Amino acid sequence: MTDAETRPNVARMYDYYLGGCHNFAADRAAAEEILKIFPDTSVAAQTNRAFLRRAVRWAAERGVRQFLDVGAGLPTQGNVHEVVRAVDPDARVVYVDHDEVAVAYARRLLPTDGRTVVLRGDLRRPDEWLADPTLRATIDLAEPVALLLVAVLHFVPDGDDPWAAVARLRDATAPGSLLALSHLTLDGAPPLPARAGTEVYRRSSAPLVPRTHADVARFLDGYDLVEPGLVRLADWRPDGEPRAAVSHGYGGVGVRR
Ligand SMILES: C[S@@+](CC[C@H](N)C(=O)[O-])C[C@H]1O[C@@H](n2cnc3c(N)ncnc32)[C@H](O)[C@@H]1O
Repeated sequence: MTDAETRPNVARMYDYYLGGCHNFAADRAAAEEILKIFPDTSVAAQTNRAFLRRAVRWAAERGVRQFLDVGAGLPTQGNVHEVVRAVDPDARVVYVDHDEVAVAYARRLLPTDGRTVVLRGDLRRPDEWLADPTLRATIDLAEPVALLLVAVLHFVPDGDDPWAAVARLRDATAPGSLLALSHLTLDGAPPLPARAGTEVYRRSSAPLVPRTHADVARFLDGYDLVEPGLVRLADWRPDGEPRAAVSHGYGGVGVRR
């Protein structure tokens, strides 16, 4: 077995929480440890996906036709291109992830229609992939883009300055572009289980870095937040879908000034 299969991987652990089948024994064992500590993790993952769908649909209905989904993960139900194409069949979607397994699955499972592109790239180093010719052929950065950073920034430690990376992406997009983000928080969570949970992720492919509301809000510098602001995921423009009893994340959408 390769290291990629024996080390728990955050993309595949998330796939397991969502009931997917693209995961290995090491991912399932680590995910089960998390589920023992936080039994509602699967519901929280579904809540995050539901936020992603609502934010993407809102952006598409507002007229945005280009989507840049960074930290896109493994294809699952309600993928961004499916939600977007229900509004505009010609909309363009570029998926970016740094995980080679997630990228390989996505390339195998997603349509090869020229309007859906999968790139390997690291959120921490946008300049390495922003100039990629495939990205540039798919998305016109001079026109508004919806940048999606959903459940990914909490895998980037403060030492890697994720705020600078997000600012670089903001500056690469046109005024009127959107940023939709969700981010894990442990605001209000009991400290001991929180520590046990982050310990499990310390052994995985990426450490988990929950952040406070104030630190998550800084990612939206240079954006005007749309209503209802940066709120618990289930509270962002709920549309009547079943709501999780507990949401461990903040979500929000901003419009670039
Ligand atoms: C929890 S999944 C979220 C997937 C999807 N965005 C969603 O919310 O349903 C996190 C994804 O972020 C990816 N990721 C973590 N750190 C990253 C980085 N520095 N650059 C790009 N992708 C990253 C992981 O590989 C994983 O696929």
